[in-house]
Amino acid sequence: MPPGAGRRFLVLLTGTTGHQLKLMAQEQWTAVDRYIAELFVKDDPVLDAALRDSAAAGLPAIHVSAIQGKLLHMLASIRGARTILEIGTLGGYSTIWLARSLPADGRLITLEADPRCAEVARANIARADLSGIVEVRIGKALDILPKIAAEDRDPFDLIFIDANKDGYPDYFTWALRLSRQGTVIIADNVVRSGAVADADSADPLVQGVRRMNELVANEPRVNATTIQTVGEKGHDGLMIAVVTADR
Ligand code: SAH
Ligand code: DHB
Ligand code: MG
Repeated sequence: MPPGAGRRFLVLLTGTTGHQLKLMAQEQWTAVDRYIAELFVKDDPVLDAALRDSAAAGLPAIHVSAIQGKLLHMLASIRGARTILEIGTLGGYSTIWLARSLPADGRLITLEADPRCAEVARANIARADLSGIVEVRIGKALDILPKIAAEDRDPFDLIFIDANKDGYPDYFTWALRLSRQGTVIIADNVVRSGAVADADSADPLVQGVRRMNELVANEPRVNATTIQTVGEKGHDGLMIAVVTADR
């Protein structure tokens, strides 16, 4: 910071309410997200169409941002993932980012409770030419996960948890069961504007994330951290865990 910059900042803030400050911060986070996306995320008519059709179908715009999608894609590539499990599909936006990291004989299973979301996602996934490797399963994740475990398939290489946050402790437990050494488990929305640091929060979603964090922290078979993020989706974060031992 150049000399005097702090003072100029203070002068600028005189008469500014907390609410206005938050709006200013959000505007800047969004501008920086756009700047980064322009640099590192190519124009992508298929992803644009996925968001457009999701919005047209009335789905809420709670998908990951473009640069978060790119990060998920890169993490799956770095892992060399051949199989991915996603919990929470919505319109398939993060699904497409993740599935594009897979080889032609790869497999992604994504779980979605809302049949309307699943229908939109399937169309978006078909347009992305990924129907051959992506399977959208309709139902509550807690009903489907035991079935997947009973299918006796190989463990997944990467698991992305992004459905109802009060289910996160159970989803992490299932994710671990469906993992092997080297599996990467990622959970979205684990900071929630900072609310996660409030042990007394009355929000069941916050408590869900906190209970998952305790499971992760006390689990000897994973190595984990959480990175808090700001951007067009506000202030939030990603938990990333690596499974370090088989069962
Ligand atoms: N991963 C998506 C966003 C998912 S939003 C993306 O970034 O593009 C969360 C989704 O989880 C919603 O579509 C919601 O319908 C779904 N969901 C909520 N509860 C669920 C449950 N119990 N089982 C499966 N899906 C659930
Ligand atoms: C919200 C955001 C998400 O990424 C999600 O998976 C669920 C909800 C939200 O902003 O409410
Ligand atoms: Mg999310």
